[in-house]
Amino acid sequence: MSAGVSLKHSLTMLLLELFMFLACFQECLSTPTDHLKSYMSTERGTVAFLPEITPSASPQPFLPLLAPSPLTPFTNSTIPKLSGLCMLNFTATQNLMTMTSIDCWAAFAPLLANVICCPQLHATLVILVGQLSKETGVLAINRTLAKPCLSDIEQVLEGQGAGENLMQVCSIHPSNLTEASCPVKDVDEFENTVNLSELLASCEKIDSVKECCDQVCQGAISDAATRLALKASDPLSMDGPHVLPEHSTRVNDCKTVVLRWLASKLDPYPAKEILRGLTSCNVNKVCPLVFPNMKHVANSCGNGISNPTTCCDAMDSYVSHLQKQTLVTNLQALDCATSLGLKLQKYNITKNVYSLCHISLKDFSLQVGSQVSGCLLPSLPSDATFDKLSGISFICDLNDNIPAPWPNPSLLTASTCNKTLRIPALPAATNAQSGLYNKYVTVYLLIAYSMTIMMLLQF
Ligand SMILES: *[C@@H]1O[C@H](CO)[C@@H](O)[C@H](O)[C@H]1NC(C)=O
Ligand SMILES: *[C@@H]1O[C@H](CO)[C@@H](O)[C@H](O)[C@H]1NC(C)=O
Ligand SMILES: *[C@@H]1O[C@H](CO)[C@@H](O)[C@H](O)[C@H]1NC(C)=O
Ligand SMILES: *[C@@H]1O[C@H](CO)[C@@H](O)[C@H](O)[C@H]1NC(C)=O
Ligand SMILES: *[C@@H]1O[C@H](CO)[C@@H](O)[C@H](O)[C@H]1NC(C)=O
Ligand SMILES: *[C@@H]1O[C@H](CO)[C@@H](O)[C@H](O)[C@H]1NC(C)=O
Ligand SMILES: *[C@@H]1O[C@H](CO)[C@@H](O)[C@H](O)[C@H]1NC(C)=O
Repeated sequence: MSAGVSLKHSLTMLLLELFMFLACFQECLSTPTDHLKSYMSTERGTVAFLPEITPSASPQPFLPLLAPSPLTPFTNSTIPKLSGLCMLNFTATQNLMTMTSIDCWAAFAPLLANVICCPQLHATLVILVGQLSKETGVLAINRTLAKPCLSDIEQVLEGQGAGENLMQVCSIHPSNLTEASCPVKDVDEFENTVNLSELLASCEKIDSVKECCDQVCQGAISDAATRLALKASDPLSMDGPHVLPEHSTRVNDCKTVVLRWLASKLDPYPAKEILRGLTSCNVNKVCPLVFPNMKHVANSCGNGISNPTTCCDAMDSYVSHLQKQTLVTNLQALDCATSLGLKLQKYNITKNVYSLCHISLKDFSLQVGSQVSGCLLPSLPSDATFDKLSGISFICDLNDNIPAPWPNPSLLTASTCNKTLRIPALPAATNAQSGLYNKYVTVYLLIAYSMTIMMLLQF
């Protein structure tokens, strides 16, 4: 329960916030179905008149989440205590650091960790080291300085409101700032080893929707990383079908070096967009939920589902446990539906329980009690934003009335791309726009808050 651990606010503050949220609750949730209808009805026709969003366009509109509060940490950034040893230039990357602090804001960090906060933190580390390499000529921070530098980064982020155990939440270690096992770290050697024109051409601009399927940039990064890895003084044998695990670790570490070089060739904002786009390809492939024991469902739904009511009660109860875990993207919800369906099939439940019990994709996301207000993040989640008047907010995709598809074991190799094709109602990428999302964003964040509070109170 890392959620509770990271939440260092006083109980008074939580109660105050809860009060504010409840005040909004009535207004926001008074007629959820009306909002849903208006959303659904506009949804179909929107694509035609929505302006094209270019990657460099100003941040997409966000909606109020937190009423301004004197207790909001953002209103008073604390001055970070820096080690004095680390040469990272936080002034040059100020906007990036602020954006990361908001994405990882204390109370939400654990709920957003998997999809927004940690991908953004990883991108930030890559960009910081990449920018530094322009001065040092080295695409890594050495082992001695990695620790103080990581601590400085943490200090700067926390000073702006980020959660306090962020590095733990996101599994970041000092080694993530070094070259790790990659044999190449000098910019000169890098540029003499890698096909730069190919790398730049493939990655300078990526189409976040297509990239996950056709892997243009990812392929170029892998090629470059493999070339770097082969420069090791003890090149591991790549003969035969068995590539040594050391080799794949080395290639992985070199991928980070490649990303840093790319980040050094771009401005922080476009670099961040590319890195987040690449991360989302991997994030969307995996269901982040932990599935509790399903014996009860297996018993209630077994025997050819003799009693549908008992079976669906058991399903509802089971799914409600999943809904307390974390925020998921729409594609992750699809992964989760597949994983759960396959597990049920292992228990000999072959009938489509999802259809029988009306389980939809939104049932895999965080919800509030009996209110049907589940909400799925877009497959390419946007950053959270902060504004002094309206607080923190981010876009939540409510394309969530899609029935959960019952997996067909014979079609299991389907990749995310193929899944997306098969379910046209599911947007491959986000084109979230203002207006449509207003109520939902507000509602959603109330959920996040009440969830956090619930978790805290469990201690
Ligand atoms: C915020 O900072 C200002 C000036 O630095 C100070 O006067 C004020 O008391 C601080 N507010 C809080 C809530 O810490
Ligand atoms: C940090 O970056 C800023 C803006 O790019 C620049 O003005 C400043 O001189 C840099 N500081 C150091 C120590 O390099
Ligand atoms: C790490 O880098 C710093 C600054 O560039 C240098 O002073 C130090 O000697 C280096 N340490 C090692 C172990 O290379
Ligand atoms: C950070 O380093 C650890 C090993 O020290 C590695 O397992 C992990 O994948 C790295 N994380 C990233 C984002 O590179
Ligand atoms: C680099 O890649 C491009 C495009 O794939 C190719 O045309 C070129 O020959 C490559 N250059 C080298 C030195 O391998
Ligand atoms: C699954 O069901 C079939 C027929 O309904 C039965 O023969 C088989 O033993 C069951 N397997 C398990 C593991 O319950
Ligand atoms: C995805 O679909 C394409 C074309 O329908 C097919 O060639 C490919 O094998 C599929 N990929 C997987 C992983 O199923």
